[in-house]
Amino acid sequence: MAEELTPETPENESDRTAEAEGTEEPIKQRKNGLYPEVSDELAESMKSGWADTELHGLEPIAQAAHTERRRAALSARFPGERLVVPAGNLRTRSNDTEYPFRASTEYAYLTGDQSHDGVLVLEPTADGHEATVHLLPRSNRENGEFWLDGQGELWVGRRHSQAEAAQLLGIAAEDVRELPRKLREATGPVRVVRGHDAGIESALTDKVTAERDEELRVFLSEARLVKDDFEIAELQRACDATARGFEDVVRVLDKAEATSERYIEGTFFLRARVDGNDVGYGSICAAGPHATTLHWVRNDGAVRSGELLLLDAGVETSELYTADVTRTLPINGRFNELQRKIYDAVYEAQEAGIAAVQPGAPYRDFHDAAQRVLATRLVEWGLLGDLDVEKVLELGLQRRWTLHGTGHMLGMDVHDCAAARRETYVAGTLEPGMCLTVEPGLYFQADDLTVPEEYRGIGVRIEDDILVTEDGNRNLSAALPRQAGEIEEWMARLKG
Ligand code: GLY
Ligand code: MN
Ligand code: MN
Repeated sequence: MAEELTPETPENESDRTAEAEGTEEPIKQRKNGLYPEVSDELAESMKSGWADTELHGLEPIAQAAHTERRRAALSARFPGERLVVPAGNLRTRSNDTEYPFRASTEYAYLTGDQSHDGVLVLEPTADGHEATVHLLPRSNRENGEFWLDGQGELWVGRRHSQAEAAQLLGIAAEDVRELPRKLREATGPVRVVRGHDAGIESALTDKVTAERDEELRVFLSEARLVKDDFEIAELQRACDATARGFEDVVRVLDKAEATSERYIEGTFFLRARVDGNDVGYGSICAAGPHATTLHWVRNDGAVRSGELLLLDAGVETSELYTADVTRTLPINGRFNELQRKIYDAVYEAQEAGIAAVQPGAPYRDFHDAAQRVLATRLVEWGLLGDLDVEKVLELGLQRRWTLHGTGHMLGMDVHDCAAARRETYVAGTLEPGMCLTVEPGLYFQADDLTVPEEYRGIGVRIEDDILVTEDGNRNLSAALPRQAGEIEEWMARLKG
C-alpha cells in the first residue's frame, strides 16, 4: 500500500523501502476502509485509457545555475564523502490529513525543489561529487496506487516524472523508494542533514555521527550568510508583498475592531498565500497590551481605538524566502502623546541601528547602537533612578524593557543561518550580501510596577530588513513608512 511510501510520522521510518519492494501487490480498497472493495472489473478499467502526459523540453528553473554553484561549494568542503540532504516528510494532522508541507531549507537551497520525501545525495567522484535528487515517482496505475492511495496523484495532484524533474532542476533524478536500501548497502564516509527524514536517518544510523553531521549543518547555515543575486531578488519580492499585506491590514482595521486580532492575521495570510507561498512565521498581531508579549501569535484579542497595534509579519515567497517586518500602528490613525514619545525613541534607535549596518562593521555594532539610544531615553524618562547611561549599559539594565536582540540574519528561515558558528555570525563582520533585520523595541508590561501607570501595556517595535551593500546598506522594506508622522499620513490615505 503506497500510502506508507511516505511515512506518516518521522518515527515511522522503515516503511518506504519495505513498500517499494511490494508495489506489485494490487490495492483493493482505500486504506481507511470506508469505501467498498474494488471489483476486478473496476480495477482493470482504472489501469488504462489515460493519455500520456509526459512533458518534454522543459526549461530549467530560474535558480538552476545558483543551486549548481551552491552544490559545488558544498562539494568542495566535503571531498570524498557522500552527502545526504532530505526535504522531509509529510506530517499527519489526523488520520489521512496532513499539515501543510514545507521543504527543508537545506534541500530547497541546494536543489530549488520542494517535493516532500525528496532527498539530494551528493555522491563522491574522482573530481568532486555527482548530484542526484531522489523523488517519489509518478503514481503506479497498474496496482491502483494512483487513485486508491491517499497520496496517489489522483488525490493530491500530479508529480513530476523523474525525467521532468531532471530537466527542471538540472540534477539527475531517481526513485527515492530505493534510496534507503542503497544507503544501507553503500560504503565510505557519509553525512546527513538531520531532523527532516527519520527513514533516511535510520538507514544511515550505523554510518554517521552527530558531530560530523553537525559540521554539515553548520556549513549549510554559514553558506547562506551571504546571499546571491537570486536570493536578494527573492527577499525584495518578499518585502514588497509584505508591504502590500500591511496596507491590506490598515484598510480593514475597522473590521478588526469589530471582531478581533484574527481579522488582521487572516487578512495578512490572504496576501501571503496569493502573492507568495505562506507566511514565513506565525504572524504577530498584537493589539493593546498584547504588544508587550514578544511572540504574541494567539491573536485572539480585542482591537481597540486609542491603542497600538504591533504587527510583525512576513510573506514567504514561492521560492521560500521570507520577509520579517514590524510596524507599530495607532489603531485610530493618530499616536497620542505618550505613544508618540515611546515610538519616537524606538524609531531613533532603529535609525542608529540601520546606520551601523555597514560592510566591514562588527555584526554587534547595530545592536549596540540601538541599545545606547534606548538606554539614553529610559534614563531621561527617569525610569532608571539616577544611574547614568554608561552604567545602565554596563549592567544591561535597559533590557528590562528592550528584552531582545536588535536583529538577526534573514533569508529562507526567518532566523536564518541559526547554526552558524559565533565567529562567523554574532561575533563576525558584516559583508555585502548579508541581510539582517534591525528591530529595536520597548515593552512596558501591563504589570510592571517600576514604570508610571500610563506606560503600562505599551509595546513598540519597528523592524526592517536591511541588505548590506558594497558601500552601505539598502532597506528592502522601505516601501512601508516608519517615521511617526509618515505612518499617520499613510494610514489616513489607506483608511480613506
Ligand atoms: N518575527 C520574529 C522576529 O522578529 O524575530
Ligand atoms: Mn519580526
Ligand atoms: Mn525579526
